[in-house]
Amino acid sequence: MEQKRIVAIVGSLRKNSYNRQLALVARDIVGDRAIFDIIDYADVPMLNQDIEYPAPDAVRRVREQIKAANGVWFFTPEYNHSYPGVLKNLIDWLSRPVSKEERHVLIKKPVAISGASPGMGGTLIAQDLLVMLLSTLNASVMNAPRLTIPNITQQTDETGHLLITTSLPYLQKQADSFLEFMEA
Ligand SMILES: Cc1cc2nc3c(=O)[nH]c(=O)nc-3n(C[C@H](O)[C@H](O)[C@H](O)COP(=O)(O)O)c2cc1C
Repeated sequence: MEQKRIVAIVGSLRKNSYNRQLALVARDIVGDRAIFDIIDYADVPMLNQDIEYPAPDAVRRVREQIKAANGVWFFTPEYNHSYPGVLKNLIDWLSRPVSKEERHVLIKKPVAISGASPGMGGTLIAQDLLVMLLSTLNASVMNAPRLTIPNITQQTDETGHLLITTSLPYLQKQADSFLEFMEA
């Protein structure tokens, strides 16, 4: 049987992003149960309908990665009680039909959502809004379990390196659930 493939989309472009580090821990947890790639989309331009067709190379590349994946796992920070603009821009691109014959790449795609923040909210509001957005696009959202991690700096060392201690069992549970959810 062909190996499952998960792609992770991190809603932060920051090099030492906690959410990016969280995605790397998730990759370790998934291990050899699925191929797990973190999508690099820093070169995706701001959406402008004047440049939509033919799609820019970066957009085409990300679409191909998503099409080839069995599931998409979002790791997002919260910016001003929403998901970051870079993530909205990417999803706006992904929401557009690939061509006259081909609909957009998120339709029915299994999706999981996690997020970490230094504050007390744990990205809950951003996640709720992301669920709304992805549901609008007919993605198949795994609503439970989701993972919201508040006070993330309590799970890092003094250099900001993520240790993931108390949240580890929850991340493991979410990974197990998502692998199952993708099968359904
Ligand atoms: C523009 C901006 C808005 C933010 N708004 C929120 C917020 O609404 N809630 C929150 O918990 N943290 C907020 N933060 C703090 C982020 O949670 C923090 O910078 C976090 O480290 C970003 O995630 P990352 O480490 O994955 O880059 C905000 C940060 C920025 C830059």
